[in-house]
Amino acid sequence: YDYLLVSTPKPGVGLVQLNRPKALNALSTPLILELNTALRAFQADQSIGAIVLTGSNKAFAAGADIKEMKDLTFSDAYGKDFIETWSDLVTFLKKPLITAVNGYALGGGCELAMMGDIMYCGPNAVFGQPEIRLGVIPGAGGSQRLTKAIGKSRAMEAILTGDNISAKQADEWGLVAKVFETPEECTDGAIATAAKIAGFSHIAVKAAKEVVNKSQDLGIREGVEFERRVFHGLFGSKDQKIGMGAFAAKQKPEWSNE
Ligand code: HXC
Repeated sequence: YDYLLVSTPKPGVGLVQLNRPKALNALSTPLILELNTALRAFQADQSIGAIVLTGSNKAFAAGADIKEMKDLTFSDAYGKDFIETWSDLVTFLKKPLITAVNGYALGGGCELAMMGDIMYCGPNAVFGQPEIRLGVIPGAGGSQRLTKAIGKSRAMEAILTGDNISAKQADEWGLVAKVFETPEECTDGAIATAAKIAGFSHIAVKAAKEVVNKSQDLGIREGVEFERRVFHGLFGSKDQKIGMGAFAAKQKPEWSNE
């Protein structure tokens, strides 16, 4: 990869680090295509149970690449579905994605971070949707995901003013699951959580992610019914027998991932 570092820091954990330091990890089309490829490879790899996406200590990502976008016309953008490859990311990824944010997560960088199933950050994280300052608006889900995460009034304020959101605010407002004391602890914490998740039945983890995500789209009644159907379905899995059998026998479960 030209713009990514990809590794397996612990068994079951796939780590993708954005690596375009000179441009603060600005999300150019080639970078996004590589990211899609790397995430698809982890999605297909049976040995991987959870994925961590991070950047550098200075920037998770400072946004979509403004230099690439500046001369785009409406027909370029609409005709070639500019940005559509981004949203692919969340729809094809069935394994949990933890985003570990240090430094700037602005515009498309903030949107990418919010595509994670769990978001962690370091003390120096700076979130924001500054598109208004460039004469545009968020284009990769920011207006929807930020609003769902922190509420309408705060999201409106951030999107209409372009003002940044600090790590402390992100924590208080529930944008992130946890703030760590150092950037290193943030990345290590994300890897540790991913390793913990990867140690459970992959089939149960997949189902859990699917039902939580449904809550974003469905009303409570339909959502609860959907959850129950998926719960019932897991009684057809081997891992339900393994997990409950191991509890009853006072043993540690050896998951089959089936
Ligand atoms: C292209 C970028 C970039 C970006 C930074 N760089 N952000 N290039 N696109 N989004 C480049 C700079 O041009 C510079 O290149 C180098 O990275 C270092 O940046 P500096 O500005 O010199 O660093 P610093 O002074 O520390 O300021 C950091 C910063 C600032 C506050 C994050 O770079 C900044 O405001 N960036 C833009 C943030 C932004 O507006 N993001 C939203 C983009 S729109 P050179 O060559 O000069 O060294 C967007 C729309 C999403 O994301 C829509 C859906 C995808």
